[in-house]
Amino acid sequence: MSPLRGFLQSRSDDIPAATRFNAWVTSGASLECRRHGRCYIYLHMSSTPVTENTRNAMRSALAHARYRSDEIFNLITPDALYSRPIPERHRFVFYLGHLEAFDSNLIGPSFGRHEEFDRLFAFGIDPTNGGLPTDQPEDWPRELQIRSYCGVVRDAIDFSLYETDDFLLFHVAIEHRLMHAETLAYMLHWLPLTQKKSRPVSIDVDPRPVQHSTIAIPAGCVTLGALRGSIPFGWDNEFEANAVEVPAFAIDKYKVTNAQFKEFVDAGGYREKSLWSERAWEWIRSADVRHPKFWLRAGETFRILTMFAEVPFQPGWPVYVSQAEAQAYARWKGKALPSEAQFHRAAYGGAEGGERVYPWGSDSPLPRHGNFNFQRWDPMRVDVHPAGDSAFGVSGLVGNGWEWTSTVFAPFPGFERFAFYPGYSADFFDGNHYVMKGGSARTAAALLRPSFRNWFQPLYPNIYTGFRCVEN
Ligand SMILES: [Fe+2]
Repeated sequence: MSPLRGFLQSRSDDIPAATRFNAWVTSGASLECRRHGRCYIYLHMSSTPVTENTRNAMRSALAHARYRSDEIFNLITPDALYSRPIPERHRFVFYLGHLEAFDSNLIGPSFGRHEEFDRLFAFGIDPTNGGLPTDQPEDWPRELQIRSYCGVVRDAIDFSLYETDDFLLFHVAIEHRLMHAETLAYMLHWLPLTQKKSRPVSIDVDPRPVQHSTIAIPAGCVTLGALRGSIPFGWDNEFEANAVEVPAFAIDKYKVTNAQFKEFVDAGGYREKSLWSERAWEWIRSADVRHPKFWLRAGETFRILTMFAEVPFQPGWPVYVSQAEAQAYARWKGKALPSEAQFHRAAYGGAEGGERVYPWGSDSPLPRHGNFNFQRWDPMRVDVHPAGDSAFGVSGLVGNGWEWTSTVFAPFPGFERFAFYPGYSADFFDGNHYVMKGGSARTAAALLRPSFRNWFQPLYPNIYTGFRCVEN
């Protein structure tokens, strides 16, 4: 899997076939596993020195990423730009300048910079200290000033792309923007419906209940991370590759659905202290949390808040909850959340002992494999993508919502921070962030590579993240 290949796939209609395939050669890598012998790391597509093809691919990928981030700002009403839909995060207006400030600070020329805006829009917020930001709308520049700054920076970045043969920083800029296209979607989700321009909403009408089951996964060896140099780009936390032996376990075939989680709510799960960690219990008591944030109480039942409308309860959609809520549900069921290694084993383990590039095999991600790459704004039933099943028959592991793991976000052996972005991962190796795997409807295809790791704090309920359970 290659990020660039993902970019190309997502923009394949723009790129001549000759360009699409001539830029790549296949390379393989393998790692010894003490117990199971050779453990194959996915075959990666890595770039040849076909610089112009690579430059064209980067140009296309950058344009696509800008389209995806611009799309969010085009969906909010003018008065919403200075609002803050998630209290712990910046106002929208910050992100309008942030994406360009990031690129400018990373790649921009040393002359002609807007130093004030480069600094003002440099850093986002991770709410680790419990405090909330106190800035006011009038503290921020006007929209026209920011858009003018963005235009100048984009021109400078485009010029830089034509001047270089080293594309590492452009990979960083593109993936940073794609990740923000998703986190901006979370912010858009929590904006009042009256402050966003509406889009068609689709809900599921299939009345059949999801047929849940548990799948036994045999013991095996998994590869976490990637070998340095084996993929065109990976973030610092994706290296080095390491082989991990995973004992046999059983895992849910599908993500936990709204219908399943409602049983937990109806059974009083939010009132049973023994199911929660001390910190999580304090949170649900103090914030009066009684159900997932995406649910709206409607008498005896619930409705679902989608991106653009309130809709009837969708029993077959995956439930999106914080990691603390996922943990409480798993405890209530007498089960557990999968570790990062267990997720990898269920997703990428091959029936013959090797490992796959994607759960479904080596084909590039397509809509039939799952709900990802901006196809939709909302989830789908958990059982509608059998073509995306893993070798063991586990379904929906990539797309339709990230999945919480029980693994604390930490460096792999051999981790080295990026010199140009030292805090990207290391600032979060604090024991208070958990690894998420898979991807959501708003996750770019480029980020679906097996080594990609996402992470959030356990009490954060605002994101498209669900879970499934394991039995050890
Ligand atoms: Fe950022």
